[in-house]
Amino acid sequence: MLFLTLISLFGFILTIQTSDLQKYVDLIDLNNDGKLFKDEIFIFLNKFYEEIQDPISITSSGSMKIQENILYNIIKRYNRNSSADYLILSDFENLFVDLYSLQNQKPTFLFNGLEPEQVHLSYTHDIYTEMYISFVTREKPSSNLRPIIKYCDKQCIAIGDTTTYNVDDWHYWIHFIYIKGLEPGAEYNYKLGFIDSDNITIKHLFSNEKWTFKTMPPVERQQKEIVYIYGDMGTIMPLGFEVMKSIIKDFNRDKNEQPNYVVHVGDIAYAGTGHAEEVQTIWDLFMNQIAPISSQIPYMTATGNHEKYYNYTSYKTRFFMPSKTNPTSFETDGNFFFSLETNFVQWIFLSTEHDYSNGSSQRTFLENILQQYERKWQNKERPWLILVGHRPMYSSDQATDSGRLQQELEPLIIKYGVDLAVWGHMHCYERTTPVKYNNFTDRDHFSSDGKIYQHNATNFNQTSPIHLTIGTAGAWIHENWIPTPEWSQTRYQKYGFGKLYIHNTTHLEFKSILSNRTASDEEDYFMIIRQF
Ligand SMILES: *[C@@H]1O[C@H](CO)[C@@H](O)[C@H](O)[C@H]1NC(C)=O
Ligand SMILES: *[C@@H]1O[C@H](CO)[C@@H](O)[C@H](O)[C@H]1NC(C)=O
Ligand SMILES: *[C@@H]1O[C@H](CO)[C@@H](O)[C@H](O)[C@H]1NC(C)=O
Ligand SMILES: *[C@@H]1O[C@H](CO)[C@@H](O)[C@H](O)[C@H]1NC(C)=O
Ligand SMILES: *[C@@H]1O[C@H](CO)[C@@H](O)[C@H](O)[C@H]1NC(C)=O
Ligand SMILES: *[C@@H]1O[C@H](CO)[C@@H](O)[C@H](O)[C@H]1NC(C)=O
Ligand SMILES: *[C@@H]1O[C@H](CO)[C@@H](O)[C@H](O)[C@H]1NC(C)=O
Ligand SMILES: *[C@@H]1O[C@H](CO)[C@@H](O)[C@H](O)[C@H]1NC(C)=O
Ligand SMILES: *[C@@H]1O[C@H](CO)[C@@H](O)[C@H](O)[C@H]1NC(C)=O
Ligand SMILES: [Fe+2]
Repeated sequence: MLFLTLISLFGFILTIQTSDLQKYVDLIDLNNDGKLFKDEIFIFLNKFYEEIQDPISITSSGSMKIQENILYNIIKRYNRNSSADYLILSDFENLFVDLYSLQNQKPTFLFNGLEPEQVHLSYTHDIYTEMYISFVTREKPSSNLRPIIKYCDKQCIAIGDTTTYNVDDWHYWIHFIYIKGLEPGAEYNYKLGFIDSDNITIKHLFSNEKWTFKTMPPVERQQKEIVYIYGDMGTIMPLGFEVMKSIIKDFNRDKNEQPNYVVHVGDIAYAGTGHAEEVQTIWDLFMNQIAPISSQIPYMTATGNHEKYYNYTSYKTRFFMPSKTNPTSFETDGNFFFSLETNFVQWIFLSTEHDYSNGSSQRTFLENILQQYERKWQNKERPWLILVGHRPMYSSDQATDSGRLQQELEPLIIKYGVDLAVWGHMHCYERTTPVKYNNFTDRDHFSSDGKIYQHNATNFNQTSPIHLTIGTAGAWIHENWIPTPEWSQTRYQKYGFGKLYIHNTTHLEFKSILSNRTASDEEDYFMIIRQF
């Protein structure tokens, strides 16, 4: 019986999902023989970097060996037929089956009709009693139906709305629901579906044993806050898929170590494959790839350069950041810049892709949030200040192209004592010492092994920021370093993600976790200890 169920599940998988994955394979498969060879993959990957002045050239002898190795490894990792030097559709199908078996669940991306896929949560400005949820269906619900979430056995139903957008003939439907009136620090199992126009008759209801979320507990009940943080992921090609698998494994390893939310610092799906084209299938695959995590903890995003296609239409429509769902008066630009206040952290999400110069709306927002934080710090309400954006303010990667970010914003982040700034864009890992204006600062408080920054500053403006670049979540690593600047504490080029532990008001810890760690690999680690 079980055997029969499995057979029918697999039959279902292979027939339903073929179209999305087939489209993806067709995109790479230049001669349409159903086989993806190294050269075809190379040309496909190169499309993502068209805008870079010096695109990776298949004939440039120096980097060629490295690129060949990377492609060889991709084929080796994904290929189930060890005697073939190419990938075929079923290699990709197996990958998705694997991903979902890690969560011990029916693959949520294999649905039809009105079955919810691409489920993802996000915080609003009220992390204690609200939550935002969104999902996609392939079919349009009839006009009398509205999407719902049912989050307890009795009356708990929230009703939402439906939208879509018109890029690349995309014709699926995005449903989004604002949930209010939740209990702080509570865990909810939920179901998703559709309700009739009387707001009483539920017409469709779908469940999944893994669909649960938690609201943030009040500060006095908060143990510690844990966050996944990374940038530059993408899906099957590049290796975002591999990194996501390692995140899911980490998530399932120990319930006490499960993060409260994710922070993705831009370059999300890599659906854009040229100056103007964006392939919606890649967005769909990506959103299903993250769903095992994003259906359980809020997935918060900053914007990267790879979201820019069609004036950011996909990013603007698919994501629901607090600046879009319930903006404050300074969050004037939809998903692009916003504040997220948690028990221990004042987060500031910036868009390095939009104007931040004096007089811009983003700059006005930033100054306003920093002033609010100053008051809260002085009232002992919120200890940590973390800034996130896509292009790094500090990077010793040769290809860094962050424009006037440092000139425009460094004075502000120093003035207000940003503890940590987290960036992506460069496909590498790099951590700085405490740094101001390119100088390694506050040396007396930085341990000689470079792991602990402990200071007893009595005012936040006496400290120095530490910068992290974590563009290692899957996008193709093809970087080169400049000679190590003094402020560059640790740097490497390996796939992986970050895990931030805000233990309490005085201890913040960070771990770099490599997706494919070998015995000789060291994973970076550091801690900031400060008075509050
Ligand atoms: C594996 O790859 C080899 C080499 O291309 C091919 O001859 C063989 O048929 C493949 N086997 C399967 C099961 O696809
Ligand atoms: C159903 O709920 C929506 C808002 O959620 C409201 O606009 C609409 O008027 C309600 N319809 C009925 C029949 O109560
Ligand atoms: C792009 O979107 C922004 C809103 O996010 C809008 O103000 C602007 O006019 C749009 N630009 C174009 C060229 O459509
Ligand atoms: C921005 O304005 C401030 C004063 O408000 C000034 O000190 C600073 O130099 C200006 N920055 C730039 C890059 O013009
Ligand atoms: C940075 O250090 C250099 C010497 O290493 C010094 O000349 C310069 O004044 C310092 N800059 C700042 C802003 O402290
Ligand atoms: C900071 O204060 C703590 C507790 O008062 C003390 O143990 C620690 O040595 C101090 N650290 C520095 C760097 O002064
Ligand atoms: C630091 O903040 C204090 C109190 O707000 C202020 O008096 C002082 O001028 C600031 N120092 C610097 C260097 O900004
Ligand atoms: C804060 O967390 C650190 C690390 O877990 C711990 O050593 C320290 O005792 C905690 N401080 C307080 C005040 O709980
Ligand atoms: C790690 O990489 C090696 C060599 O590229 C490969 O054999 C191994 O399967 C990989 N492991 C994981 C967990 O990806
Ligand atoms: Fe990137």
